[in-house]
Amino acid sequence: MATAQDKKILQELQAAVRTSLNARGFAQRQPQGLFAPIEYTLQLGGKRIRPMLCLAAAYAFAPERWHEALPAAAALEIFHNFTLLHDDLMDRSPLRRGQETVYRKWDDNTAILSGDAMCIEAYAALGELEAKALQPELFALFSRMALEVCVGQQLDMDFEHRSDVAVAEYLEMIRLKTSVLLGASLQIGALLGGASTEAAERLYRIGVELGLAFQIQDDLLDVYGDEATFGKPIGGDIVNAKKTLLLLYALEQLRGSELEELRAILELSPEERRGQVAHVRSLYERVGVRAYATQAVEAHTARAYSLLEPLALSEEGRDLLLTL
Ligand code: IPE
Ligand code: IPE
Ligand code: MG
Ligand code: MG
Ligand code: MG
Repeated sequence: MATAQDKKILQELQAAVRTSLNARGFAQRQPQGLFAPIEYTLQLGGKRIRPMLCLAAAYAFAPERWHEALPAAAALEIFHNFTLLHDDLMDRSPLRRGQETVYRKWDDNTAILSGDAMCIEAYAALGELEAKALQPELFALFSRMALEVCVGQQLDMDFEHRSDVAVAEYLEMIRLKTSVLLGASLQIGALLGGASTEAAERLYRIGVELGLAFQIQDDLLDVYGDEATFGKPIGGDIVNAKKTLLLLYALEQLRGSELEELRAILELSPEERRGQVAHVRSLYERVGVRAYATQAVEAHTARAYSLLEPLALSEEGRDLLLTL
């Protein structure tokens, strides 16, 4: 499936994303107090999954014109990085992509204002698309998605202080904070590639399923990952009492004194919980939390694949999306 040809195309798309982000000139713009943190964040790279989904979708429908989607790809990556600047401040996370987070390297105000500038820059990039006829639709879609991300982020924060979050509420929260951005990335790319409204909406749904799988995997890595490859400290969600699928499942499955132990840990302050990460992990082990969450990742991934199946795409386009 992952042919050498697919890999070559994906490398070409990756290189184009990098060039298009560099071309925005954050390294030179003044004042550097505002733009240096943006340059710093974008240079740290990350997986660039959102712009890649956008470009691969455009390529799948119009292999000759994928580069016309580049401003949208840049908009999606800059918007994503904006949410990270604010998210790291809100989550008090010290590390991102293996390096100091912006609010730590600079200060809180820098993370706020450079983040705001990135959100504005994302819209500016979207305005640079040549497909003027599509712009009203794309702006509306982008704005709806952006506001949904804020709603999801607020729910994530609210859930930290609640002890009765249901799995369905968690799924809705991650659909909003993470999945709609992946969905919109595929949908925007498809529309720019000339896909029908229906086909583009199907790609949106594929992105949402991938996003659910992606966020549950992120939750898993936060507990079981390796800091060197994850690029973020392990255990941060436990310290912050984040209502992840892992925690909700453990609360549902544990009984008796073990359930009481977990509940008591959730009553502690974040500083106190820092010493309880291994304990929580051992409680998770008692009820097979890791296997349960891994299965959830697989189920959502499988749903994304089955949604892709009936789409009328060239074999090359389908293979490219599958490889990505
Ligand atoms: C981090 O996103 C935020 C989540 C939705 C979990 P990524 O895992 O895509 O971060 P980068 O951009 O690759 O660093
Ligand atoms: C990511 O949630 C959602 C957004 C950035 C909007 P997380 O808080 O889990 O992301 P990481 O783990 O810090 O990357
Ligand atoms: Mg975070
Ligand atoms: Mg967060
Ligand atoms: Mg996380």
